[in-house]
Amino acid sequence: MVEQVHDAGARIFAQLWHVGLVRKPRVDGVGRLYESGPGSDDRLSPSGIIGGNGLSFERVGRPATLNEIRGAIQAYGAAACTAKTLGFDGVEIHGAHGYLIDQFLWDQTNLREDEYGGDIGRRTRFATEVIQEIRANVGPDFPVVLRLSTWKQQDYNARLAANPEEWAAIVRPLAATGVDAFHLSQRRYWEGEFGTEANLATWTKKLTGKPTITVGSITLDNSTAEMMRGEGSLPKDNLAPLLAGLEREDFDLVAVGRALIANPDWPHRVRNGTPLVPYSLSMLQTLV
Ligand SMILES: Cc1cc2nc3c(=O)[nH]c(=O)nc-3n(C[C@H](O)[C@H](O)[C@H](O)COP(=O)(O)O)c2cc1C
Repeated sequence: MVEQVHDAGARIFAQLWHVGLVRKPRVDGVGRLYESGPGSDDRLSPSGIIGGNGLSFERVGRPATLNEIRGAIQAYGAAACTAKTLGFDGVEIHGAHGYLIDQFLWDQTNLREDEYGGDIGRRTRFATEVIQEIRANVGPDFPVVLRLSTWKQQDYNARLAANPEEWAAIVRPLAATGVDAFHLSQRRYWEGEFGTEANLATWTKKLTGKPTITVGSITLDNSTAEMMRGEGSLPKDNLAPLLAGLEREDFDLVAVGRALIANPDWPHRVRNGTPLVPYSLSMLQTLV
């Protein structure tokens, strides 16, 4: 796959994630069910707490041991090394949407009292050690992107940071540890963060000086929230604020999700003004 992408003149990154408690109990990484002891839950997470819909929190497991945390960090490093060996042009670490890294960052799911929990700096420690380990494995020149969001899949209104100072306490140490660029996940790219007009990609670039990627409903009339409910999306020209943001260098790159699934030639269509094909969920059932 990497070779085919390169032959077509493009670049490709591998996204690496550990979903932590979001994984179903006793289901392995490729969806196979396996047996473990009665009532036991071997999912790795900071405190065994998962935030449900409407912010009810449930303790479903136990806090990871220090050895397990070390093992997960090493696994990220090994996976990044594998991606590099396979010829990927870089890696993106998924630290968003309520998965493992986010479970450490969020004070609602991280109640640890050791060096991986506590204030915002300590809750960021797991993420910085993941980046450190990856850097040590892939060397200084291999691009490492970190994807972050302030919201969770189960609660779009949840926020990791209440203001830019708190967000800086998360992203600055990560930038200093070796993140080359941040990918800031939003459902609608034009929505401002921290009560301002600047979106999260703009804030993160301002606070770290690193390049950022923005995303969310680009050329679409609805967001992934509607997609989760099984709705399709119609094309919509909402590029003006995006182009203005790029022009001002508020952010540097743009990620396109569903519109690209519906239009693999999206850049050409947008450049030439060719109408876009609507996105529908059934498109996920085929590869072409
Ligand atoms: C079918 C599908 C699969 C996705 N898988 C991932 C994924 O593996 N990792 C990830 O970070 N985001 C994933 N996302 C979220 C997208 O990266 C993106 O943030 C989201 O679709 C919003 O962009 P859009 O409005 O342009 O679709 C997925 C989205 C869709 C529609």
